[in-house]
Amino acid sequence: MSRADRFLQALAGQPVDTTPLWIMRQAGRYLPEYRATRARAHDFLTLCKTPELACEVTLQPVERLGVDAAILFSDILIPVEKMGVPLTFAEGEGPRLQPVRDAAGIAALRVPDVEGELGYVLDAIRLVRRALDGKVPLIGFAGAPFTLLSYVVEGQTGKQFAETKRLLFAAPELAHRLLQKIADTTVAYLGAQVRAGAQALQLFDSWVGQLAPEDFSAFAAPYVKQVIDRLTPLGAPIIYFANDGAMLLGEAAKLGAHALGVDWRVPLDRARAQVGDQVTLQGNLDPCVLFAPPEVIERRAADVLRRAGDRPHVFNLGHGILPPTPPEHAEALVEIVHRLGQRRS
Ligand code: CP3
Repeated sequence: MSRADRFLQALAGQPVDTTPLWIMRQAGRYLPEYRATRARAHDFLTLCKTPELACEVTLQPVERLGVDAAILFSDILIPVEKMGVPLTFAEGEGPRLQPVRDAAGIAALRVPDVEGELGYVLDAIRLVRRALDGKVPLIGFAGAPFTLLSYVVEGQTGKQFAETKRLLFAAPELAHRLLQKIADTTVAYLGAQVRAGAQALQLFDSWVGQLAPEDFSAFAAPYVKQVIDRLTPLGAPIIYFANDGAMLLGEAAKLGAHALGVDWRVPLDRARAQVGDQVTLQGNLDPCVLFAPPEVIERRAADVLRRAGDRPHVFNLGHGILPPTPPEHAEALVEIVHRLGQRRS
């Protein structure tokens, strides 16, 4: 048992030498080496679309922090652009898309040819696997259908999600048509990632916490389940991260994921009581704890580990690491989790 194995072992519910850990958004602006590579790319999308650069930033946190998994450097909106939705990232403003809200716009969207149109993502995966040489596994990812629908409909990160909900509630048939196209795209995209070398997959449902439970059951859960069911035969374990989903965990546990990502708003022991024993839990330190000194980080991380108990657990933050985080604090977290997570046998 070593660093190479413990992440996939924990996802499989198997014993581990110590708790594995990776960090959502572990490659990013808090790292000076990321900012240096980013300055060499013309912009963020160029970084995502240049396999050598995407590979370079994917490896940075693996080397600096000693995390137990790499996650492909890309963005959940990359396949959406190839569905036919023009995408830009304005400096400091986040994503901007040309919103699609009506029947004609939805009918015009395509399921992309992944090998032909998103080859740079697959090339980045192949480069990363070669460079990692088995040191740690590589996670591929996609946005979950509801979260991607919200970007397509809002044209940006939602605030009230009013246009998204207008579509869901006033034109549910259209919403389902859009969700199905996104689900088909996601299956093709993640399937290709696995064939290129991704060894686990995460579905990011960043905005699903905006939905009431019955709307989660109607508009989000069926498509997550469909994506998982269609990808499970490929053999890569799947993590479903329903951000702000404390109310949804019981339902989320029924969708067939090997692991559920849990945000910091629900303690892991209470999450466990809702999901039963069959699933690995991933999470869930508040990302802002990394602003505090190492002794506070240690006390808080110890509490997460205590609440995870002896059930299968992958340590992570409850959402992505934030740009003002001192890199040394992220390094300290990895050391702390590996030390405190050791199994006494
Ligand atoms: O985890 C990793 O290290 C892999 C890289 C990754 C990025 N985006 C890089 C990125 C992953 C997994 C994502 C997923 C993503 N993208 C999500 C789901 C995860 C989550 O946070 O809930 C979402 C909602 C997006 C959409 C997106 N991309 C937004 C809202 C933004 C702007 C926010 C910001 O921090 O500026 C992005 C841009 C983005 N994606 C950056 C990075 C490193 C910042 C771009 C830069 O370098 O300026």
